[in-house]
Amino acid sequence: MLVLGIETSCDETAAALVDEGNVLSNVIASQIDLHARFGGIVPEVASRKHVEVIGYVIREAFDSAGKGHSQVDAIAVTSKYGLIGSLIVGVSAAKAMAYALRVPLIGIHHIEGHIFANILSNPGLPLPHVCLTVSGGHTMLIHVKEPGQYEVLGGTLDDAAGEAFDKIAKFLGLGFPGGPAIEKLAGHGNRTAINLPRPLGRSRTSDFSFSGLKTAVVNMFKDSARQTLPLPDIAAGFQEAVVDVLVSKTLQAAQRQGVSAVSVTGGVSINTRLREAFSESCRRRGLQVFFPRRDLCTDNAAMVAAAGAVRLKYGEVSGLDLDAIPNAPLESIKCA
Ligand code: KG4
Ligand code: ZN
Repeated sequence: MLVLGIETSCDETAAALVDEGNVLSNVIASQIDLHARFGGIVPEVASRKHVEVIGYVIREAFDSAGKGHSQVDAIAVTSKYGLIGSLIVGVSAAKAMAYALRVPLIGIHHIEGHIFANILSNPGLPLPHVCLTVSGGHTMLIHVKEPGQYEVLGGTLDDAAGEAFDKIAKFLGLGFPGGPAIEKLAGHGNRTAINLPRPLGRSRTSDFSFSGLKTAVVNMFKDSARQTLPLPDIAAGFQEAVVDVLVSKTLQAAQRQGVSAVSVTGGVSINTRLREAFSESCRRRGLQVFFPRRDLCTDNAAMVAAAGAVRLKYGEVSGLDLDAIPNAPLESIKCA
């Protein structure tokens, strides 16, 4: 089944064609440069840019896959979870195409998309497993029982992990997005030079909190004795604290659920230190760990198409009245 995926939930305009787990094209128009001067994503600017480029991005997805419109069997679009103005652009484009081509339309939850980035990248990914989705807009632990059957175990009580990277980078004058900038600087630092808190690190819940960690970094600059600390050490110490909490909470959840594998997905999952720490800790605990291929870590439409194909196989179809919903719980497929 050839599925066109469309994703516009935040600041990436993306379209992809996926055929039975094979990614034939994966086009992403990033708005990073546009938002960098504001130090973060401006929702109004994001939705206007989606309107401008969505047509070209979809056309490019067909051209680079060497496929024509008539070959598409279904259209999957991110309709839940994200910026409302941005979601509406993708949903409208998907509806128009589904109507014109007379093919089924299926709305996908953005977080389910991220779960599928790993399923698509690792065909041998065992089920059930525990999935950590970690990016600029979300930090969530999910028990993936099978594709489409999820239990949310916990999430962030305040900032998402990627958001914390972005805010600290802004504070340190490193620009936007913060994750890659902090990772680069941390590469020159000593991760044990400063001792930062591990928020909720000892609690038995699967929830996260990163705002206290952010405040701890900011407060260091008020302490004259520590003002001279090298920036690379601060970046490395901060990155280590975030990674430490993500690894320990995920492994704790995996143990509680009795699974033998974990997966990590979302923009932050591209981080090399995070991958290294997960691989090392999972190896010691006898757990398998999986990450998406690099082009499927950040927002993309291939993951949306892959999730759509599975939901369609379960017989789920959305109507042309499909709505864009900015904040929706991650639902499981309701099998008839
Ligand atoms: O998944 P994504 O593209 O968008 C959301 O759904 O939010 O993730 C973007 C987030 C940003 O917060 C960015 O700073 C973070 O992923 N990120 C990283 C790295 N690359 C991107 N965080 C840590 N290390 C990185 N190398
Ligand atoms: Zn995302």
